Amino acid sequence: MANELLCAPQQDQTRKTLPVSDSAVAEKPLVNPKLATVEKVLSVEHYTDRLFRFRTTRPQSFRFRSGEFVMIGLMQENGKPLLRAYSVASPAWDEELEFYSIKVPDGPLTSRLQGIQPGDDILLGKKPTGTLVLDALTPGKRLYMFSTGTGFAPFASLVRDPETYEKFEEVIVTHTCRDVDELRYSQELVENLINDPLIGEMAQGKIRLYTSCTREDYPRMGRITNLIESGKLFEDLGVPPLDPATDRGMICGSMEMIQDTAALLEKAGLTEGSNNAPSEFVIEKAFAG
Ligand code: A2P
Repeated sequence: MANELLCAPQQDQTRKTLPVSDSAVAEKPLVNPKLATVEKVLSVEHYTDRLFRFRTTRPQSFRFRSGEFVMIGLMQENGKPLLRAYSVASPAWDEELEFYSIKVPDGPLTSRLQGIQPGDDILLGKKPTGTLVLDALTPGKRLYMFSTGTGFAPFASLVRDPETYEKFEEVIVTHTCRDVDELRYSQELVENLINDPLIGEMAQGKIRLYTSCTREDYPRMGRITNLIESGKLFEDLGVPPLDPATDRGMICGSMEMIQDTAALLEKAGLTEGSNNAPSEFVIEKAFAG
């Protein structure tokens, strides 16, 4: 992949392989070291009482395509790992990893994960995978990334990947949340992107973030599905309605949001693709703890 040329040398001193005991009397193997490594939390930022992001060390051997997800988690008091799927929110070239997470008060993982601090250990799976990747789309002119809530995470990765701008003339990212505060991550990220020395020039003039809220007063209200159906999305952006000849889509949100948005794309004549059979749009459920 061309963007791997941008990789900086890795700082890898903090990484260690997970302990494995082969003694019959000692504890059982904690985590299969073939499946996960122990990384360090580098920074944590809380956006709302429901949302936060954190950055971790990245092992030199950890390769992924922007938009993919991986298992991450924590060791439990019983000595067993607790892992959940998370989209990697940082791009493939970044020497660190970033994740964007919801906080579920009684969620087995996120109730603990929300308390992590810089320096803490975190488990990182070794097998990133997923369908929200550029390779799963056929060539097009305009790329739409439709997201709700934490479904923005894979797009936080893709909008920071130069390949996105090499492949598409226009990149439209929609992010719909219940409340205004929940849009901060996407808004700050896209704002900073334009000023980024690496990607800013490529992204400028190509990327547009289209935000809306459904449960709090905001200049633009409504679910993305309603905004597509009414044609307001296209009017606001000054672009023609969805067209399989030019438009490609990626969808990430709740299962219902994906189904409803995919139905609208299909109605416009776009067909769903996958890694094995690239086509005009791809989907992935936003993962929640
Ligand atoms: P709403 O407030 O009308 O439910 P959640 O946090 O529940 O995943 O929701 C995130 C955003 O996704 C909310 O703005 C929510 O709108 C919206 N949403 C929920 N279900 C759908 C759906 N089926 N289609 C489009 N948007 C949806």
